[in-house]
Amino acid sequence: MNPDRSSPGLRLPTAPFLEGVAAPPALPPPRSTARLPALARRMAGMPPSAVREILKVAERPDILSFAGGLPAPELFPVEEIAAAHAEVLRLSGRSALQYSTTEGFGPLREWIAAHLRHRGIAARAEELLITSGSQQGIDLVARVFLDPGDVVLVESPTYLAAIQAFAAYQVRLIAVPSDDDGMQVDRLAALIAAHRPKLIYLVPSFQNPKGTTLPPARRAALVELAAQHEVAILEDDPYGELAFTGPPPRPVAAGSHGNVLYLGTFSKTLAPGLRIGWLWGDARIVRKATIAKQAADLHTATLAQRATAALLARFDYEGHVARICEVYRERCQTMLTALAEHTPAGSRWVTPTGGMFVWLQLPSGLDADALLPTAIARRVAFVPGSSFFVDEIRRDFVRLNFSNQPPASIIEGMQRFGQVISVALAAA
Ligand SMILES: Cc1ncc(COP(=O)(O)O)c(C=O)c1O
Repeated sequence: MNPDRSSPGLRLPTAPFLEGVAAPPALPPPRSTARLPALARRMAGMPPSAVREILKVAERPDILSFAGGLPAPELFPVEEIAAAHAEVLRLSGRSALQYSTTEGFGPLREWIAAHLRHRGIAARAEELLITSGSQQGIDLVARVFLDPGDVVLVESPTYLAAIQAFAAYQVRLIAVPSDDDGMQVDRLAALIAAHRPKLIYLVPSFQNPKGTTLPPARRAALVELAAQHEVAILEDDPYGELAFTGPPPRPVAAGSHGNVLYLGTFSKTLAPGLRIGWLWGDARIVRKATIAKQAADLHTATLAQRATAALLARFDYEGHVARICEVYRERCQTMLTALAEHTPAGSRWVTPTGGMFVWLQLPSGLDADALLPTAIARRVAFVPGSSFFVDEIRRDFVRLNFSNQPPASIIEGMQRFGQVISVALAAA
């Protein structure tokens, strides 16, 4: 499940074997008067994702949505994935449909380890745990590290579904300010001294929602500081390979003193529906996460793991990722050009050098949450930035996704969006 989007309404085909059979009696309406049994206290701290609620509306076909964090589906290697599944089922169908180890499929872990070494991380296959998307990796690390009341330092703003995942463990999230280069690492020492965090969570490359990338000097300082204070770092890197202007940034984990846990995923480079991600780090911690995963879901789907390994064995992965980068670079540029043309003075954004998002600051006095219903009425959708903050909630930001719409729709959408801002500004 993409954390930013609920799946569109499924239309099930009529089952042929039911033809001619009388329809089952209609279900009575759901009972809403029954008292809800007492729930765990943790649920009170877990608000529903505001983004999901927006996306339910944004799925209307007449709306140009820039809200979901969705990759471009036309770039999914559908045929190659289908062929890999067919091959795995033909050659090793029984194993592929059987329960398997929690750690994950050996050849897939080997491929990922080699891939990470290529990116500068000294990874061995046995230090990797295959997860059901990197979202599960966040949850498992939280489960391994955090007791109620513990502190996690997060960038401000940060990834919405990480806020939700951490909230389940009844921890305190403390915001580390960020600027156009990501987390302000020079503010960390004071925050560590004041709050004694267990974990620092960040998305250092092409961040969600801001699109920012942490420069190498800040990465090195972060690793040093965390090691000095014995705080673990959780590096979440779903976008690192989607680099528009050069090679992917060197992960924070590449400079690790054993204190960085790294999350990766095939969600943005192959397809999120595969639900294949991974956790790399100190083998002792990964072992604990493996035990936690046993309790959570036993293992990630065997068939998906084996099919992904079969695909990667002969697929031009590098070439495929290069193609995605090319398409996203063009869409990003189209969005920035259209924003420059259609938004009123006072709108501000930072040019992303990769990833899937533009983070836009509205002209002074405008409120993104208040603007959304007008935008929906004008058939354009975005995510108000307020969802991504953990402390001081800012309402003057908007997150725009550029990967999921073709250039012509981006131009049309930004025109509508610009009008929405201009009208609100004139009325302010
Ligand atoms: C920062 C970040 N982390 C993790 C995820 C979850 O990705 P996955 O599909 O690998 O679970 C996303 C997805 O949008 C994300 O933006």
